Amino acid sequence: MKILEIEGGKTLSGTIRISGAKNSAVALIPAAILSDEEVTICNVPEITDTEALCEILKYLGADIKRASESIVIQSSKIENKEIPASLSKKLRASYYFMGALLGKYGRVKMRFPGGCSIGARPINLHLKGFEALGATITEKGNCYVVEAEELKGANIYLDFASVGATINIMLAAVKAKGTTIIDNAAKEPEIVNVATLLNNMGAKITGAGTSTIKIHGVSSLGSCFHEVIPDRIEAGTYIILGACCGNQLKIDNLIPEHVEALTSKLKEAGVPLKIGVDSITVSKKESTKAIQVRTQTYPGFPTDLQQPLSVFLTQCEGKSKIEETIYENRFMHIPYLNQLGADIRVKNQTATIIGPTQLTGGNVVATDLRAGAALVIAALIAEGHTKITNVEHILRGYEQIVEKLTNVGANIKEREI
Ligand code: EPZ
Repeated sequence: MKILEIEGGKTLSGTIRISGAKNSAVALIPAAILSDEEVTICNVPEITDTEALCEILKYLGADIKRASESIVIQSSKIENKEIPASLSKKLRASYYFMGALLGKYGRVKMRFPGGCSIGARPINLHLKGFEALGATITEKGNCYVVEAEELKGANIYLDFASVGATINIMLAAVKAKGTTIIDNAAKEPEIVNVATLLNNMGAKITGAGTSTIKIHGVSSLGSCFHEVIPDRIEAGTYIILGACCGNQLKIDNLIPEHVEALTSKLKEAGVPLKIGVDSITVSKKESTKAIQVRTQTYPGFPTDLQQPLSVFLTQCEGKSKIEETIYENRFMHIPYLNQLGADIRVKNQTATIIGPTQLTGGNVVATDLRAGAALVIAALIAEGHTKITNVEHILRGYEQIVEKLTNVGANIKEREI
């Protein structure tokens, strides 16, 4: 098992360069199989989630060339065979192979043990979309067989603006006969990044980034060259870190508009931010004030930054509140923050945070990806030594986190125990 050991209390300064977005790359890699030719995707982060997806591509028979930040995928020889749970269970985003294989072949069989620690995370909206396109679904013990004689365009309303369902339905619909309209679609930037890849391959998608997406089916998709957008959640995590212990900490290679919900909240708390064209420079301010936050779908405050932000709020004067509206179980980091000295109470879906509190080091456990990121921030501002176990969660979504933090003055080591 991997652990992180951190000596906290240091001021961090210098530049952190943001990598390609995990939540975009994990959809772009499966989407590439829709092309009959070679697809090059650059700025792909080297994290365990993208490695796991490349393993599935190789299992299906795709030819992959992985350079440092790019992947060249040639899937003309892939076989539409069942994806076993041993591969699909490594990450939830493996479900994008359902939409991609259904869209390419009209049939897909895969074992998909859904769910994860932050919630049940059903895929009913994905399956509703596939059925609307004419597919029949049989599910036996987490094994899904989705098949259609012919995929036909349909009007699909999403009960919830689900990111995954929006992308998966797009993948299944790009080669369907006729036009598909997705209403109440998710508007996250990652949706736009995937739609742009598909259009670069020859698809006809309009409206990505709005709540109504229109897809005119095409008969084939070709080669293209595409770039992953910067990771707004990685960027937000490091901006929050700068607000906690930075001195002119520059977060570089980001799209400021994608983190606007966060920067507006930090400004409300009194954090001094310098917002450039593709960077944000942030410093800790001696006293910042308590704020109220409610997670929402994009462009609202992102649920993925709720846990990192809660650490910053332990340093703000007064009573802050964070309401989590997206997931049912996304406060598992709170007991560990309280163990380090925070004063946080959780009632239903709201965490009330009294600050400021002095955090001191201790032994904590990363329960999920963003909880782990929150614990790294807490350890960096705590006085003394902190050991974080189960850091495999963190390495799923933060490329070179130890190198990036060491380069700005953090005392952080990764060890195998
Ligand atoms: C994506 O998950 C992200 N993951 C999540 O990031 C992110 O938190 C989430 O979108 C919301 O922004 C990836 O992109 C790989 P959803 P996804 O479908 O697509 C319910 C991270 O930390 N729902 O928008 O699974 C679901 O239970 C991860 O990087 C249904 O009920 O999110 C949840 O409560 C965590 N039925 C809510 O919608 C469905 O069919 C949000 O889900 C699908 C979803």
